[in-house]
Amino acid sequence: MPRLTARNLTKTFNGLPAVDQVSFAIPDGAFLALLGPSGCGKTTLLRIIAGLEQPDHGELFFDDMAVVGPGGMLPPEARKLGMVFQSYALWPNMTVRGNIEFGLRAQKHPPEERRRRIAEVLEVVGLNGFELRRPHELSGGQRQRVALARSLAMRPRLILLDEPLANLDAHLREAMLAEFRRIHSVTGATFIFVTHDQEEAMAVATHLAVMNRGGLEQVGTPEELYLRPATEMVARFIGKGRTLPVEVLASEAELCTIGLAGAELKVPGQAPVGPGWLCLHAPDLRAVAEDGHLRCQVVNQIFQNGCYASQLMPLGIDTDTISLPLPGRLPQGADVEITISGGWVIPRQASASLVGGYEFA
Ligand SMILES: Nc1ncnc2c1ncn2[C@@H]1O[C@H](COP(=O)(O)OP(=O)(O)O)[C@@H](O)[C@H]1O
Ligand SMILES: [Mg+2]
Repeated sequence: MPRLTARNLTKTFNGLPAVDQVSFAIPDGAFLALLGPSGCGKTTLLRIIAGLEQPDHGELFFDDMAVVGPGGMLPPEARKLGMVFQSYALWPNMTVRGNIEFGLRAQKHPPEERRRRIAEVLEVVGLNGFELRRPHELSGGQRQRVALARSLAMRPRLILLDEPLANLDAHLREAMLAEFRRIHSVTGATFIFVTHDQEEAMAVATHLAVMNRGGLEQVGTPEELYLRPATEMVARFIGKGRTLPVEVLASEAELCTIGLAGAELKVPGQAPVGPGWLCLHAPDLRAVAEDGHLRCQVVNQIFQNGCYASQLMPLGIDTDTISLPLPGRLPQGADVEITISGGWVIPRQASASLVGGYEFA
């Protein structure tokens, strides 16, 4: 049984949908990264899940319990969840211990239980010995650990993190990501982690949900979104993907025969005969001496990681450049032959049945 199920959640501000008919399900203990460009509705969706925002319509279930539905809304404090914000939101005049203890006192846990839980969560987030420090005596990363410890002390089954690493520098962000993954596996709680950085998301998540303009484009594992994108937006957003317009000539059992700038080739995919997108990543492409599937022209090259990262303009199709590492320097405008050894074909107009259609058994 999935732990968290959303059905048609919609929230409109001033007549504009910030969250638009969002449906998904994630299993208990998942680490879901919610990603998408700035302003696409991530924070609003998280606030609906937390109970800080009331959706115009739609339903939300934790296991079989309706949290939002025709029967009304369960208040935030009854949802057994923790929230961690970009801004940390710690009490500046309280020690680390005081910040963590605050919620435990509010829930009327006896002193012995409070001490036990504080020691436990400080151990989990790696802040033993910092009990008596105040927030201004901590680094950004340590403050974020305190915010997480404060949430964990309440033993939530669901933790919502809204761009928790946005205020940290790149090096610390990477270390904290590894920490979040470790803490997720130690606690067994379900995490929903909002980010606009897809590399950050791929690094920690068991599941990804990609949002765009309030709608959910696709939910699945990182591999599924990379290998089998449901929409052009997901194909381009994940793993620096590229899409080429193709004509699907035949289609059977997840194998499409496509026409691409005069060449004909078979590529895995799910698309009916008609206009399609061929979704590609750099490992699907290789430069060859002759008899490639696609002829391109070199637009520019930069020397990077020991080879030449090359922008190539495919000839004979109406598209933008593709990028590929090449072993050598070539003059601008030179021809390069490319073979395509993988990829995924989707319909040019992704049908609604493919979008957000991911359900867990
Ligand atoms: N309280 C609000 N009042 C009016 N508009 C809002 C409010 N909160 C969010 N919005 C709008 O809803 C859209 C989605 O915002 P948000 O959920 O914050 O996006 P994200 O977190 O993905 O950047 C934006 O266009 C934003 O301006
Ligand atoms: Mg936001």
